[in-house]
Amino acid sequence: MAAPSVSTSASSQVRPGLEGVVATETKLSMVDGQNGVLIIAGYPIEEISGKVSIEELAMLLWTGHLPSKEEAPGIQKDLATYRALRPETLEILKTARNAPPIDALRMACATLSLDVSNPNDISPAGDLALAKRLLARFPTVIAAHSRLRSGHEPIAPRADLSLAANFLYMTFGVEPDPMAAKALETYWVTVSDHGMNASTFTARVIASTRSDMVSAVTGAVGALKGPLHGGAPGPVLDMLVDIKTAPKAEAWLRKEITEGRRIMGFGHRVYKVRDPRAEVLAKTASEMAGAHLQNTKLYALACAVEKTAIKVLEELKPGRNLKTNVEFYTALVLQSIGLQPDQFVSMFACGRAAGWCGHVMEQHAQDRLIRPQSLYVGPKGLKIDR
Ligand code: ACO
Repeated sequence: MAAPSVSTSASSQVRPGLEGVVATETKLSMVDGQNGVLIIAGYPIEEISGKVSIEELAMLLWTGHLPSKEEAPGIQKDLATYRALRPETLEILKTARNAPPIDALRMACATLSLDVSNPNDISPAGDLALAKRLLARFPTVIAAHSRLRSGHEPIAPRADLSLAANFLYMTFGVEPDPMAAKALETYWVTVSDHGMNASTFTARVIASTRSDMVSAVTGAVGALKGPLHGGAPGPVLDMLVDIKTAPKAEAWLRKEITEGRRIMGFGHRVYKVRDPRAEVLAKTASEMAGAHLQNTKLYALACAVEKTAIKVLEELKPGRNLKTNVEFYTALVLQSIGLQPDQFVSMFACGRAAGWCGHVMEQHAQDRLIRPQSLYVGPKGLKIDR
């Protein structure tokens, strides 16, 4: 057999993980990792989070126009008409009742085009029709799954509540706590869009083939679930539970890092300073902590662990600039409203759905196939010897 030849030419062109590659233009969000700035369709994240609903934010991303105070109730009313799930989606959730919530969401998401006459309509009107269904139904899917896996029947959505308050109502079956609903809404707006992150890129790649909105978002859900992306906040909570008390943090963190494991909730491909979303969510977590004693203790522990982690990471990974990312305080906010750690990533998907849909619309309008190249480094000229 001939000796295989291996091509090494042009290897300098390869950018592992596409680090630093600018893949597209977008009007949806800007991430400045050096200065810790996040702009959502023109608005700094600190300006918009907590002030608008996720429904209003979605309209901003999908139409370029932030609804006025007078328009906002009509937007909520319109989106609320899409919340109920079809029997086919509920059947899938029953079958997937023991699957992790994010997997159940991925399976259910694929069915969300069943009630449009042409799911392959990628015109602006077709995209908008599907975007409304995706944003409105993701929380219904998660709430129904959470009821089914605990042996209860799903609760039908109410149209008189905001998307966030209705999610809490469908999950817990009681009148939603306004403070918890506000915290969830702030969280969803804070994570609604974030430049060319892995799941958004996935959605855009799928959309670039002129595939439809639901296919693109189903793929994005799959990309979000990994622990290096949206799957980190569940493990953040596990870490805090394992550390137990602030004095034990340093030894725990040192052991993890020296044994080659990563500290969840720290580090980011783009941010080299503290993620501005961590700032917003730390404030929300602190407000929720003030309301409940159990949350107060966890919040105090988290603040101490954050401080220690930054110090230990700087010492053991010098120069890598590993700072707090969005997932650290996400864990506290979602825990404080009564959700289970394995539901956290699916909550992320509910907020990010607004951004994914906006990017699919933008990609369909740009209509340019995303098709990079690869550098072949395998053998060539092999012969079949038989
Ligand atoms: N804990 C310990 N070490 C870390 C961490 C961390 N959280 N993050 C990076 N490092 C180390 C790496 O091991 C590597 O060390 P080395 O130079 O000795 O080999 C160095 O820092 C650089 O790491 P990269 O892998 O090049 O960083 P990258 O930009 O690819 O990683 C990522 C970004 C994936 C977010 C990473 O920081 C990480 O794994 N963090 C923990 C998981 C997490 O919190 N994910 C949520 C991210 S936010 C989001 O997606 C919404």
